[in-house]
Amino acid sequence: MLKLIPYPNKVTLKEGVLEKPYKINEIKTLSSLGEEGYKMTIDNDGVTIKAVSDKGLFYGKQTLKQLEIQYKNALPFLEIEDSPQYSYRGYMLDCVRHFFTVEEIKKQIDMLALLKINTFHWHLTDDQGWRIKSDKYPLLTEVGGSRKQTMGDGIKVEGYYSKEDIREIVDYCKQNYINVIPEIDIPGHFRAAIAAYPHLSCFQQKTIVGEGYGISPYIACAGKQSVYDFLYDLLDEILELFPYEYIHLGGDEALKLNWITCPDCQKTIQENNLKNEEELQGYFMTKMVKYLNGKGRKVINWNDGMLGGNIQGDIVVQYWKESKECKQAAYDEVKKGRKVIVSPFFSFYLDYPAGMTPLKKTYNYKIDINMEGNVWGLEAPLWTEHVENVNKLEEMTYPRLIAVAERNWTKRADYKSFLTRLKYFYKILDMRKIAYSKNPNPFFLKGKFDMIKFFVNALKKVDKENIKAQRATKKLLNQKYKSAQKERK
Ligand code: ACM
Ligand code: ZN
Repeated sequence: MLKLIPYPNKVTLKEGVLEKPYKINEIKTLSSLGEEGYKMTIDNDGVTIKAVSDKGLFYGKQTLKQLEIQYKNALPFLEIEDSPQYSYRGYMLDCVRHFFTVEEIKKQIDMLALLKINTFHWHLTDDQGWRIKSDKYPLLTEVGGSRKQTMGDGIKVEGYYSKEDIREIVDYCKQNYINVIPEIDIPGHFRAAIAAYPHLSCFQQKTIVGEGYGISPYIACAGKQSVYDFLYDLLDEILELFPYEYIHLGGDEALKLNWITCPDCQKTIQENNLKNEEELQGYFMTKMVKYLNGKGRKVINWNDGMLGGNIQGDIVVQYWKESKECKQAAYDEVKKGRKVIVSPFFSFYLDYPAGMTPLKKTYNYKIDINMEGNVWGLEAPLWTEHVENVNKLEEMTYPRLIAVAERNWTKRADYKSFLTRLKYFYKILDMRKIAYSKNPNPFFLKGKFDMIKFFVNALKKVDKENIKAQRATKKLLNQKYKSAQKERK
């Protein structure tokens, strides 16, 4: 069997072998295999790759690279016909909680290309840092680009990507047929921006860049025109750097403590006949979506940001949160005909230990039948709260990302066969000095032990103020709900 990952969709082995050195013929031609598909023939004429596009030829060459590692001296005669199951195949890297250099990112981009992943989702802004330079708003990185420490550990985390850095990554990705989707997370996960520009918050809050994790109440005000104007200007700069159709605007975990009491937010709710703060988020996001749609771009949002159900315009839902109501929010978007990127927390989140998310579970994920028809593709995110360096990044990412890559591309899933092929893939990881996990399917007790260790440490890094704010929000919303009920009676 060919030891290829992702496994091609049709392989026919033939009698005979092709000795090295050989000719590689690349031919652009009409084909039924689509934009990203390719056909490869190995026979006495050498290796011939045919595809409609340069991208298809590129994927053929990625397959050839793997064949050359399996077969040192001579390649078997064969025919491969291959094309992806899904057209969006993503990996997300959080460069906020910890910072990764351009070179460190490029090393991962090389792996994405080999795995036929075509999207790099770059999480660039959050409570704990702002990592992309803006000319119009320099304080975003001058103030927001650095945090003194994380829950008193005394270790400074800083860094940002200059426009040159961004162009370098975008260009490198282009050479590898990878689209880059920047994520500017709004209205929540916005504390670093508020630390730089307090007027973006509801109450001109003076604060510092977040030094602990969890869900923070420092969110953008949804009732002030100055906030919208700021975001439009900022997005203009972002659009210049990222020439792609999609921009990710987060939308996740927006804790609406301030919105409940902010006169501007409440006035916006009333004037626009919105039911509640969730709908206010939908209103806020719709303004952003319309702005970007007007410039020929489209938006992606995490599914918990779509609970209001009232976002209008061209937007894709990224399904991560699997709670009942958030899942329903994703279903509702699907019913409206919107596409879904599938990133389920309990199966694809790469930041959790193998005891919680073993390789087998990741590989065997079953697409929800209610989303099936609208799935654009799969994406595995790596959040880096507890990922301090590139070695840890690689240990968490591989081999689980390899499993997601196969499920994204290959129409048939076969875990047993995947494991056999993975052994060969590890040779490539070794050659490329990738520090992959050596124990992605730990035994029960070892898995549980690692998980407890992980969560005990993670709990120490949570900002207690965030927990208090969550409780206060719940209480205020309950009060509001009860008094609204009374009024109705
Ligand atoms: C997320 O994990 N907050 C999208
Ligand atoms: Zn407000």
